[in-house]
Amino acid sequence: LAVDPAFKGRGIASKLVKWGTDRADGDGLPAYLESTPAAVGVYERLGFKVQRRLSV
Ligand SMILES: CC(C)(COP(=O)(O)OP(=O)(O)OC[C@H]1O[C@@H](n2cnc3c(N)ncnc32)[C@H](O)[C@@H]1OP(=O)(O)O)[C@@H](O)C(=O)NCCC(=O)NCCS
Repeated sequence: LAVDPAFKGRGIASKLVKWGTDRADGDGLPAYLESTPAAVGVYERLGFKVQRRLSV
């Protein structure tokens, strides 16, 4: 997930993630993602919880 720097901080990433989690909820499906360390806070604000830390 990436937002053009000129448009950051306007809630675009939140809306995109919510679009996906709403669909998953509607279908009764679990959802997961893999995040860069810098973006973990964004996803935690949207309700995701860190389950594993990977070293790549
Ligand atoms: C991470 C990224 C997608 C966020 O996009 P965005 O449209 O600016 O995000 P939003 O405006 O929806 O912000 C969502 C919330 O997270 C916060 N937030 C934004 N970037 C954050 C960061 N790096 N760490 C923690 N919190 C962050 C915002 O303040 C906002 O909080 P609020 O709801 O209390 O106002 C964007 O900064 C980006 O493209 N980064 C570079 C690529 C990247 O790291 N992608 C993630 C790879 S998994």
